[in-house]
Amino acid sequence: MKDTLKKNDPIGVFDSGIGGLSILKVAQSKLPNQTWIYVADEAFLPYGDKSSEDVRNRAQVITDFFLSKNVKAILIACNTATAAAIDFLRKKHQEMLFIGVEPAVKPAANITNTKVIGILATGSTTESNRLIKLVERFSKEIKVIIQPCPGIVELIETGDYKSYSAKKLIESYLEPMLTQKADVIALGCTHYFFLTQIIQQIVGKSVLLLDTSEPVITELQHQLSINDLISKTSTQKPEFWTTKNLNVKRHNFERAWGEPIEINYLGVKKSD
Ligand code: DGL
Repeated sequence: MKDTLKKNDPIGVFDSGIGGLSILKVAQSKLPNQTWIYVADEAFLPYGDKSSEDVRNRAQVITDFFLSKNVKAILIACNTATAAAIDFLRKKHQEMLFIGVEPAVKPAANITNTKVIGILATGSTTESNRLIKLVERFSKEIKVIIQPCPGIVELIETGDYKSYSAKKLIESYLEPMLTQKADVIALGCTHYFFLTQIIQQIVGKSVLLLDTSEPVITELQHQLSINDLISKTSTQKPEFWTTKNLNVKRHNFERAWGEPIEINYLGVKKSD
């Protein structure tokens, strides 16, 4: 099925913005010889307040771009886009390898002592059939508090998430989980990785935060390996692309990545 894919071809990774960089970092360190192409769909950010049809259209446009770059796999480094588009993309492009991320509901359900877990995610993810089904499978024995977090992704993108008002907003989303004694919280949006410290300070050390970067890269590694697609030689630096115009300064993007980067403009159409 995947026999047109080649070891030394790049891997496409995308998110609406900088959230997926948290996953790309782990990807680079665990799979050091792969070549990466990262797309931040910033012109359409946030995905979390869009309909699943709109997000699916964006995922298709970015997939087309990756296909034009001959990628060997596409990593959807975004819970919202995974929920809205991965089934559709897998069906439509059966020759391509797609890996997605979703909130760590199963691991959280296995670890909890209080039998109460929380999920922080975007509005679109919390309303998705994919998450609803996932939660149904695990909510027989435990209570699952699903919390949409409007406004948070925008704060992370602008770097304003350390302000007093940002902290108050984050606290308000965590409050129902604390009141109901959740002891594990799944970070169901890749942007929230950048809030780990702040959230941990609010909820205290006894609450475990689960991020999905490590497991998703383990899965990517596994899929590449069983399809004999792990390159042992490519060592080029990642390529970065954004759909937003390049005149805007991107200090926050570089801060999130950890070093200066060159960003290319991807002038894709508004809809397909
Ligand atoms: N980082 C994305 C996620 O994991 C979505 C953020 C957005 O709303 O654009 O869901």
